[in-house]
Amino acid sequence: MPCLKALGGIRQMNVLVVGGAGYIGSHAVKTLVEHGHRVTVVDNLVRGHRQAVHPAATFYAIGLADTPDLVRVLRDHAIDCVMHFAALAYVGESVKEPLAYYDNNTAGTISLLKAMREAGVHRLVFSSTCATYGEPTSLPIVETTPQAPVNPYGWSKWCVERVLRDCAAADPELAFVALRYFNVAGCASDGSLGEDHDPETHLIPSLLLAALGRRGPVAIFGTDYPTPDGTCIRDYIHVEDLCEAHILAMDALQPGDTRFYNLGIGRGYSVREVIEAAKVVTGVSIPVEIGPRRPGDPPVLYADASKIQRELGWAARTRTVEPMIATAWNWFRSHPEGYGDKEPV
Ligand code: UFG
Repeated sequence: MPCLKALGGIRQMNVLVVGGAGYIGSHAVKTLVEHGHRVTVVDNLVRGHRQAVHPAATFYAIGLADTPDLVRVLRDHAIDCVMHFAALAYVGESVKEPLAYYDNNTAGTISLLKAMREAGVHRLVFSSTCATYGEPTSLPIVETTPQAPVNPYGWSKWCVERVLRDCAAADPELAFVALRYFNVAGCASDGSLGEDHDPETHLIPSLLLAALGRRGPVAIFGTDYPTPDGTCIRDYIHVEDLCEAHILAMDALQPGDTRFYNLGIGRGYSVREVIEAAKVVTGVSIPVEIGPRRPGDPPVLYADASKIQRELGWAARTRTVEPMIATAWNWFRSHPEGYGDKEPV
């Protein structure tokens, strides 16, 4: 298994996880702790959950805009590297509220970069997205595929990539890696962490909530796309594989590095295929209905993730969607109220 082998030689670091109470951030904190790193978390808890933060991590309820507070935390904990997960990440919402997306995702990251510069922290692992490619000109998507987002969410992350390139050009010490996630799915295999969004709009959790009878039918957003079954195709990656890639990327960073990697399994599943997989995993006849297209959805997205495999020795261990759904199903069945700290939708 390339991930574990490559993880063997990693040195211990002081890592600040921004957005470490969120879905992906909380899984990353757990992975970092398990690999022996000292972890500090900041999260404004607007979408995150305090209970999701690993007990070994030091926690601060701070927002991205609070530059002086970020500087203090970076200094107090002698941070070596920042992992930045704090973002609004709903494509549909970004179309309706673009300013919120540019404010939080773009301006918020600029605030973080200012804090890092002031505190003398030069290493950043940034959560980017396949949404920066928009409707790709060729498939599978490689890192050099032209980037042309089709929604404000994608643009807000694209802007950060641009800012990072410019900052790195001006500061030879700065090192960053932008990881372009495809569709992150699943939950911690030990059942300790899960996915608890409010509102929940993602396909797999929506199907599982419907399977539990906690919501009505899930709409298939469009059946007239130019795909074999007419529904959108996405590349789903298990959250634990994604987190291992972050650790490898962090360890690889050298002063002056500007790295970009796709994170996916390199295989696309249509919405209908995911629905069928969810029915098999849960053994439940999940209610679905056909609905209109959702604005901002590209028809087909799947990755060529061979660059990170070649350069860092990473490859996803979970290579099909069923085991991803199974870990999520395990979480949703045991936590029907999620973390139980917010009003149900
Ligand atoms: N879908 C449905 N019905 C639903 C929810 C989703 O048919 O109720 C479809 C969507 O149209 C899409 C697929 O299922 O084709 C996956 O949708 P998700 O909402 O689960 O995920 P997205 O592809 O919209 O978004 C994900 C990440 C974003 C990232 C984006 C890139 O959540 O952060 O991929 O396109 F930017």
